[in-house]
Amino acid sequence: MSASMRYQRRALLQIPQAQRQQMAPLTNLDEAAAQSPAASPSSLRFDARRYFGVGELRYIRDEIDIELADRAYLPDLNDLQRDWVASVAAPAFRVLAHRRGTPRAFASIGTGSGVDALAAIEILGAQVIGITDLFADVVDAAARNVRRNIRPGIEIALHAGAGDLLAPLGPSGEQFDVIYENLPNLPVDDTRQIERDKTSAAFLAPRTEPIPGFVTDWLLTMHYLALVQAREALAPGGVVLSTIGARLPLELLTRMARAAGLTPRVLTYGWKLQADADDVISTYAQWERQGLGPFRFYGAEALTAAFADLDPGEAGDHAATIEASLAGEQLSAVAAWQAYRSGARIGHTYVVLQSGLG
Ligand SMILES: C[S@@+](CC[C@H](N)C(=O)[O-])C[C@H]1O[C@@H](n2cnc3c(N)ncnc32)[C@H](O)[C@@H]1O
Repeated sequence: MSASMRYQRRALLQIPQAQRQQMAPLTNLDEAAAQSPAASPSSLRFDARRYFGVGELRYIRDEIDIELADRAYLPDLNDLQRDWVASVAAPAFRVLAHRRGTPRAFASIGTGSGVDALAAIEILGAQVIGITDLFADVVDAAARNVRRNIRPGIEIALHAGAGDLLAPLGPSGEQFDVIYENLPNLPVDDTRQIERDKTSAAFLAPRTEPIPGFVTDWLLTMHYLALVQAREALAPGGVVLSTIGARLPLELLTRMARAAGLTPRVLTYGWKLQADADDVISTYAQWERQGLGPFRFYGAEALTAAFADLDPGEAGDHAATIEASLAGEQLSAVAAWQAYRSGARIGHTYVVLQSGLG
Protein backbone atom coordinates (compact mmCIF):
# COMPACT_ATOMS: atom_id res chain seq x y z
CA MET A 1 0.00 0.00 0.00
CA SER A 2 1.36 3.45 -0.87
CA ALA A 3 1.94 5.99 1.85
CA SER A 4 -0.81 8.16 0.45
CA MET A 5 -3.37 5.38 0.57
CA ARG A 6 -2.30 4.37 4.04
CA TYR A 7 -2.61 7.92 5.27
CA GLN A 8 -5.88 8.43 3.53
CA ARG A 9 -7.51 5.43 5.14
CA ARG A 10 -6.31 6.39 8.58
CA ALA A 11 -7.20 10.01 8.07
CA LEU A 12 -10.72 9.24 6.98
CA LEU A 13 -11.14 7.64 10.36
CA GLN A 14 -9.20 10.37 12.11
CA ILE A 15 -10.72 13.54 10.67
CA PRO A 16 -13.50 13.83 13.27
CA GLN A 17 -10.80 13.65 15.96
CA ALA A 18 -9.39 16.89 14.58
CA GLN A 19 -12.44 18.61 15.96
CA ARG A 20 -11.99 17.27 19.49
CA GLN A 21 -12.14 19.89 22.12
CA GLN A 22 -8.75 21.02 23.40
CA MET A 23 -9.90 24.18 25.20
CA ALA A 24 -13.14 25.80 26.18
CA PRO A 25 -15.06 26.29 22.94
CA LEU A 26 -15.46 29.78 21.49
CA THR A 27 -19.13 29.03 20.96
CA ASN A 28 -20.67 25.96 19.49
CA LEU A 29 -24.42 25.76 19.63
CA ASP A 30 -24.69 22.39 18.02
CA GLU A 31 -25.53 20.25 21.02
CA ALA A 32 -25.34 16.97 19.17
CA ALA A 33 -21.82 17.70 18.01
CA ALA A 34 -20.75 18.83 21.44
CA GLN A 35 -21.95 15.56 22.91
CA SER A 36 -20.48 13.35 20.24
CA PRO A 37 -16.96 14.13 19.06
CA ALA A 38 -17.44 11.87 16.06
CA ALA A 39 -20.39 13.89 14.78
CA SER A 40 -19.73 16.86 12.57
CA PRO A 41 -21.74 19.98 13.44
CA SER A 42 -24.19 21.28 10.86
CA SER A 43 -24.09 24.85 12.12
CA LEU A 44 -21.88 27.06 14.26
CA ARG A 45 -22.28 30.43 15.93
CA PHE A 46 -19.38 32.39 17.26
CA ASP A 47 -18.21 35.82 18.30
CA ALA A 48 -16.84 37.66 15.27
CA ARG A 49 -14.53 40.05 17.16
CA ARG A 50 -12.75 37.27 18.93
CA TYR A 51 -12.54 34.94 15.94
CA PHE A 52 -11.27 37.58 13.52
CA GLY A 53 -9.20 39.38 16.15
CA VAL A 54 -10.73 42.81 15.52
CA GLY A 55 -11.86 45.52 17.93
CA GLU A 56 -14.77 47.07 16.08
CA LEU A 57 -16.75 45.38 13.34
CA ARG A 58 -17.53 47.43 10.24
CA TYR A 59 -18.96 45.01 7.72
CA ILE A 60 -19.93 41.75 9.35
CA ARG A 61 -22.32 40.90 12.15
CA ASP A 62 -21.28 40.62 15.79
CA GLU A 63 -22.26 36.97 15.95
CA ILE A 64 -21.32 34.81 12.99
CA ASP A 65 -23.86 32.13 12.14
CA ILE A 66 -22.72 29.55 9.61
CA GLU A 67 -24.18 26.37 8.22
CA LEU A 68 -21.86 23.54 7.31
CA ALA A 69 -22.33 21.18 4.41
CA ASP A 70 -21.28 17.63 5.26
CA ARG A 71 -18.07 17.90 3.23
CA ALA A 72 -17.18 21.44 4.31
CA TYR A 73 -13.93 22.10 6.14
CA LEU A 74 -14.68 22.98 9.76
CA PRO A 75 -13.37 26.05 11.55
CA ASP A 76 -11.67 24.95 14.79
CA LEU A 77 -13.50 27.08 17.34
CA ASN A 78 -12.20 24.99 20.21
CA ASP A 79 -8.64 26.21 19.77
CA LEU A 80 -8.21 29.34 17.68
CA GLN A 81 -4.44 28.83 17.56
CA ARG A 82 -5.11 25.75 15.49
CA ASP A 83 -7.69 27.45 13.27
CA TRP A 84 -6.05 28.60 10.03
CA VAL A 85 -8.36 31.52 9.32
CA ALA A 86 -8.18 32.89 12.88
CA SER A 87 -4.47 32.30 13.42
CA VAL A 88 -2.95 32.57 9.92
CA ALA A 89 -5.27 34.17 7.33
CA ALA A 90 -6.68 36.98 9.50
CA PRO A 91 -3.23 38.16 10.71
CA ALA A 92 -1.94 38.02 7.12
CA PHE A 93 -4.93 40.07 5.91
CA ARG A 94 -4.14 42.65 8.60
CA VAL A 95 -0.53 42.94 7.44
CA LEU A 96 -1.64 43.17 3.81
CA ALA A 97 -4.26 45.85 4.55
CA HIS A 98 -1.69 47.85 6.48
CA ARG A 99 0.82 47.69 3.64
CA ARG A 100 -1.39 47.87 0.57
CA GLY A 101 -4.68 49.45 1.61
CA THR A 102 -8.14 48.24 0.68
CA PRO A 103 -8.53 45.85 -2.26
CA ARG A 104 -11.73 46.02 -4.32
CA ALA A 105 -12.03 42.34 -5.18
CA PHE A 106 -11.01 39.23 -3.20
CA ALA A 107 -11.23 35.56 -4.18
CA SER A 108 -10.83 32.45 -2.07
CA ILE A 109 -9.93 29.22 -3.84
CA GLY A 110 -11.36 26.39 -1.74
CA THR A 111 -13.36 28.50 0.69
CA GLY A 112 -14.84 25.68 2.79
CA SER A 113 -17.43 27.33 5.04
CA GLY A 114 -16.78 30.83 3.69
CA VAL A 115 -15.27 32.25 6.89
CA ASP A 116 -12.12 33.24 4.96
CA ALA A 117 -14.30 35.44 2.73
CA LEU A 118 -15.91 37.00 5.82
CA ALA A 119 -12.39 37.74 7.13
CA ALA A 120 -11.54 39.41 3.83
CA ILE A 121 -14.70 41.53 3.95
CA GLU A 122 -14.05 42.68 7.50
CA ILE A 123 -10.26 42.99 7.60
CA LEU A 124 -9.40 43.84 4.00
CA GLY A 125 -12.62 45.73 3.30
CA ALA A 126 -13.14 43.92 -0.02
CA GLN A 127 -16.51 44.65 -1.67
CA VAL A 128 -16.38 42.09 -4.47
CA ILE A 129 -15.98 38.49 -3.32
CA GLY A 130 -15.37 35.33 -5.36
CA ILE A 131 -15.48 31.90 -3.72
CA THR A 132 -14.92 28.42 -5.09
CA ASP A 133 -14.78 24.91 -3.73
CA LEU A 134 -15.06 21.47 -5.25
CA PHE A 135 -18.70 20.65 -4.48
CA ALA A 136 -21.89 22.59 -5.17
CA ASP A 137 -23.43 21.92 -1.74
CA VAL A 138 -20.31 23.26 -0.01
CA VAL A 139 -20.15 26.40 -2.17
CA ASP A 140 -23.89 27.05 -1.89
CA ALA A 141 -23.69 26.90 1.91
CA ALA A 142 -20.59 29.13 1.91
CA ALA A 143 -22.40 31.69 -0.27
CA ARG A 144 -25.36 31.71 2.11
CA ASN A 145 -22.91 32.08 5.01
CA VAL A 146 -21.32 35.13 3.42
CA ARG A 147 -24.67 36.79 2.65
CA ARG A 148 -26.22 35.99 6.03
CA ASN A 149 -23.37 37.46 8.05
CA ILE A 150 -23.03 40.85 6.36
CA ARG A 151 -24.23 43.79 8.45
CA PRO A 152 -27.49 45.39 7.27
CA GLY A 153 -26.85 48.16 4.73
CA ILE A 154 -23.47 46.74 3.56
CA GLU A 155 -23.45 45.65 -0.07
CA ILE A 156 -21.15 42.92 -1.30
CA ALA A 157 -21.07 41.56 -4.86
CA LEU A 158 -20.65 37.80 -4.50
CA HIS A 159 -19.53 35.35 -7.21
CA ALA A 160 -19.64 31.72 -6.14
CA GLY A 161 -19.01 28.56 -8.12
CA ALA A 162 -18.20 24.88 -7.66
CA GLY A 163 -15.32 23.22 -9.46
CA ASP A 164 -11.56 23.13 -9.74
CA LEU A 165 -9.44 25.97 -8.37
CA LEU A 166 -10.34 29.31 -10.00
CA ALA A 167 -12.20 27.88 -13.01
CA PRO A 168 -15.68 28.47 -11.52
CA LEU A 169 -15.01 32.22 -11.35
CA GLY A 170 -14.05 32.51 -15.03
CA PRO A 171 -17.61 33.29 -16.22
CA SER A 172 -17.84 36.21 -13.77
CA GLY A 173 -15.23 38.06 -15.86
CA GLU A 174 -13.96 39.48 -12.60
CA GLN A 175 -10.32 40.21 -11.88
CA PHE A 176 -9.17 40.04 -8.29
CA ASP A 177 -6.83 42.22 -6.26
CA VAL A 178 -6.24 39.46 -3.71
CA ILE A 179 -6.54 35.72 -4.36
CA TYR A 180 -6.22 33.56 -1.24
CA GLU A 181 -5.73 29.82 -0.98
CA ASN A 182 -5.15 27.28 1.77
CA LEU A 183 -5.22 24.18 -0.40
CA PRO A 184 -4.33 20.59 0.52
CA ASN A 185 -0.82 19.11 0.24
CA LEU A 186 -1.20 15.34 0.42
CA PRO A 187 -1.79 13.30 -2.73
CA VAL A 188 -4.08 10.28 -2.95
CA ASP A 189 -4.09 7.71 -5.73
CA ASP A 190 -7.83 7.53 -6.34
CA THR A 191 -9.88 10.58 -7.36
CA ARG A 192 -13.08 9.07 -5.96
CA GLN A 193 -11.71 9.29 -2.42
CA ILE A 194 -11.71 13.07 -2.65
CA GLU A 195 -15.51 13.08 -2.93
CA ARG A 196 -15.97 11.36 0.41
CA ASP A 197 -16.41 13.05 3.78
CA LYS A 198 -14.04 15.95 4.35
CA THR A 199 -11.15 14.37 2.48
CA SER A 200 -10.70 17.30 0.08
CA ALA A 201 -9.60 19.53 2.95
CA ALA A 202 -6.28 17.73 3.26
CA PHE A 203 -5.90 15.60 0.12
CA LEU A 204 -5.68 16.12 -3.61
CA ALA A 205 -6.54 13.88 -6.50
CA PRO A 206 -3.93 13.01 -9.18
CA ARG A 207 -3.34 15.93 -11.59
CA THR A 208 -2.59 15.86 -15.30
CA GLU A 209 -1.03 19.33 -15.77
CA PRO A 210 2.73 19.69 -16.29
CA ILE A 211 4.23 20.38 -12.86
CA PRO A 212 7.94 20.91 -12.06
CA GLY A 213 9.49 17.89 -10.33
CA PHE A 214 10.56 19.81 -7.23
CA VAL A 215 6.96 21.01 -6.78
CA THR A 216 5.55 17.48 -6.66
CA ASP A 217 8.50 16.20 -4.59
CA TRP A 218 7.85 18.79 -1.89
CA LEU A 219 4.06 18.26 -1.95
CA LEU A 220 3.32 21.74 -3.29
CA THR A 221 1.22 20.76 -6.31
CA MET A 222 -2.00 22.61 -5.50
CA HIS A 223 -0.20 25.76 -4.39
CA TYR A 224 1.68 25.80 -7.69
CA LEU A 225 -1.42 25.18 -9.81
CA ALA A 226 -3.31 27.91 -7.98
CA LEU A 227 -0.50 30.34 -8.78
CA VAL A 228 -0.49 29.35 -12.45
CA GLN A 229 -4.26 29.84 -12.75
CA ALA A 230 -4.18 33.06 -10.75
CA ARG A 231 -1.98 34.78 -13.34
CA GLU A 232 -5.03 35.19 -15.59
CA ALA A 233 -7.39 36.23 -12.80
CA LEU A 234 -5.29 38.89 -11.07
CA ALA A 235 -6.20 42.55 -11.44
CA PRO A 236 -3.25 44.83 -12.27
CA GLY A 237 -1.10 45.06 -9.14
CA GLY A 238 -3.00 42.16 -7.55
CA VAL A 239 -1.44 39.45 -5.38
CA VAL A 240 -1.95 35.79 -4.55
CA LEU A 241 -1.71 34.76 -0.90
CA SER A 242 -0.60 31.11 -0.68
CA THR A 243 -1.03 29.72 2.84
CA ILE A 244 1.45 26.92 3.35
CA GLY A 245 2.59 24.70 6.21
CA ALA A 246 6.29 25.20 5.53
CA ARG A 247 7.87 21.86 6.41
CA LEU A 248 10.53 22.57 3.83
CA PRO A 249 13.30 25.06 2.94
CA LEU A 250 11.66 28.47 2.36
CA GLU A 251 13.69 28.94 -0.81
CA LEU A 252 11.49 26.27 -2.43
CA LEU A 253 8.39 28.42 -1.95
CA THR A 254 9.83 31.42 -3.76
CA ARG A 255 11.20 29.09 -6.43
CA MET A 256 7.72 27.64 -6.89
CA ALA A 257 6.16 31.08 -7.38
CA ARG A 258 8.82 32.05 -9.89
CA ALA A 259 8.29 28.77 -11.75
CA ALA A 260 4.60 29.75 -11.96
CA GLY A 261 5.58 33.08 -13.53
CA LEU A 262 5.05 35.30 -10.48
CA THR A 263 7.24 37.40 -8.20
CA PRO A 264 7.06 36.29 -4.55
CA ARG A 265 7.82 37.64 -1.11
CA VAL A 266 7.11 36.23 2.33
CA LEU A 267 4.18 38.22 3.75
CA THR A 268 3.92 36.50 7.12
CA TYR A 269 5.90 33.77 8.87
CA GLY A 270 4.98 31.95 12.05
CA TRP A 271 4.59 28.56 13.57
CA LYS A 272 1.91 26.17 14.70
CA LEU A 273 1.80 23.04 16.76
CA GLN A 274 1.32 20.15 14.38
CA ALA A 275 -2.41 19.43 14.20
CA ASP A 276 -3.46 15.77 13.93
CA ALA A 277 0.14 14.96 14.76
CA ASP A 278 -0.32 11.17 14.87
CA ASP A 279 -1.39 11.05 11.27
CA VAL A 280 0.43 13.97 9.74
CA ILE A 281 3.93 13.40 11.14
CA SER A 282 3.80 9.68 10.48
CA THR A 283 2.66 10.32 6.91
CA TYR A 284 5.47 12.76 6.25
CA ALA A 285 7.82 10.14 7.75
CA GLN A 286 6.43 7.62 5.27
CA TRP A 287 7.16 9.98 2.40
CA GLU A 288 10.70 10.43 3.71
CA ARG A 289 11.25 6.70 3.81
CA GLN A 290 10.21 6.68 0.14
CA GLY A 291 12.90 9.24 -0.66
CA LEU A 292 11.16 12.62 -0.35
CA GLY A 293 12.24 15.42 1.98
CA PRO A 294 13.76 15.53 4.50
CA PHE A 295 10.83 17.57 5.78
CA ARG A 296 11.31 20.04 8.60
CA PHE A 297 9.67 19.83 12.00
CA TYR A 298 10.81 21.39 15.28
CA GLY A 299 10.25 21.08 19.00
CA ALA A 300 7.77 23.70 20.22
CA GLU A 301 10.36 25.21 22.58
CA ALA A 302 12.77 25.89 19.71
CA LEU A 303 9.98 27.54 17.70
CA THR A 304 8.92 29.66 20.65
CA ALA A 305 12.49 30.89 21.10
CA ALA A 306 13.10 31.52 17.38
CA PHE A 307 9.94 33.59 16.81
CA ALA A 308 10.13 35.26 20.26
CA ASP A 309 7.51 38.04 20.32
CA LEU A 310 7.74 39.00 16.64
CA ASP A 311 4.39 39.52 14.98
CA PRO A 312 3.83 37.50 11.77
CA GLY A 313 4.57 40.48 9.50
CA GLU A 314 7.87 41.27 11.24
CA ALA A 315 8.76 37.60 11.17
CA GLY A 316 7.97 37.57 7.43
CA ASP A 317 10.45 40.41 6.92
CA HIS A 318 13.12 38.39 8.74
CA ALA A 319 12.12 34.96 7.50
CA ALA A 320 15.55 33.98 6.15
CA THR A 321 17.27 34.93 9.42
CA ILE A 322 14.71 33.08 11.54
CA GLU A 323 14.92 30.04 9.30
CA ALA A 324 18.72 30.07 9.61
CA SER A 325 18.48 30.38 13.40
CA LEU A 326 16.36 27.23 13.45
CA ALA A 327 18.82 25.20 11.36
CA GLY A 328 20.32 23.38 14.34
CA GLU A 329 16.85 22.52 15.65
CA GLN A 330 15.45 20.81 12.57
CA LEU A 331 13.90 17.41 12.98
CA SER A 332 13.23 15.25 9.95
CA ALA A 333 9.75 13.76 9.89
CA VAL A 334 11.23 10.43 11.01
CA ALA A 335 13.01 12.09 13.95
CA ALA A 336 9.95 14.22 14.75
CA TRP A 337 7.80 11.11 14.80
CA GLN A 338 10.14 9.44 17.30
CA ALA A 339 10.28 12.59 19.45
CA TYR A 340 6.51 12.96 19.32
CA ARG A 341 6.02 9.38 20.43
CA SER A 342 8.36 10.08 23.34
CA GLY A 343 6.13 12.94 24.44
CA ALA A 344 7.70 15.97 22.70
CA ARG A 345 5.49 18.82 21.45
CA ILE A 346 6.19 19.06 17.72
CA GLY A 347 5.42 22.02 15.45
CA HIS A 348 6.20 23.39 12.04
CA THR A 349 6.55 26.84 10.53
CA TYR A 350 3.98 28.35 8.18
CA VAL A 351 4.31 30.96 5.47
CA VAL A 352 1.79 33.19 3.78
CA LEU A 353 3.51 33.80 0.47
CA GLN A 354 2.52 36.94 -1.43
CA SER A 355 3.03 36.66 -5.20
CA GLY A 356 2.33 39.24 -7.85
CA LEU A 357 2.82 39.74 -11.56
CA GLY A 358 5.72 42.15 -11.31
C1 LIG B 1 -7.73 23.28 4.31
S1 LIG B 1 -9.29 23.65 3.59
C2 LIG B 1 -9.28 25.44 3.69
C3 LIG B 1 -10.66 26.06 3.82
C4 LIG B 1 -10.63 27.58 3.92
N1 LIG B 1 -10.11 28.17 2.71
C5 LIG B 1 -9.80 28.03 5.10
O1 LIG B 1 -8.76 28.64 4.88
O2 LIG B 1 -10.20 27.74 6.23
C6 LIG B 1 -8.97 23.37 1.87
C7 LIG B 1 -10.19 23.63 1.01
O3 LIG B 1 -9.81 23.54 -0.37
C8 LIG B 1 -10.83 22.83 -1.06
N2 LIG B 1 -10.24 22.25 -2.28
C9 LIG B 1 -9.42 21.18 -2.37
N3 LIG B 1 -9.07 20.97 -3.65
C10 LIG B 1 -9.67 21.96 -4.38
C11 LIG B 1 -9.70 22.27 -5.77
N4 LIG B 1 -9.02 21.55 -6.66
N5 LIG B 1 -10.43 23.34 -6.18
C12 LIG B 1 -11.13 24.07 -5.27
N6 LIG B 1 -11.14 23.82 -3.95
C13 LIG B 1 -10.42 22.77 -3.51
C14 LIG B 1 -11.30 21.82 -0.06
O4 LIG B 1 -12.55 21.27 -0.41
C15 LIG B 1 -11.31 22.65 1.22
O5 LIG B 1 -12.51 23.34 1.38
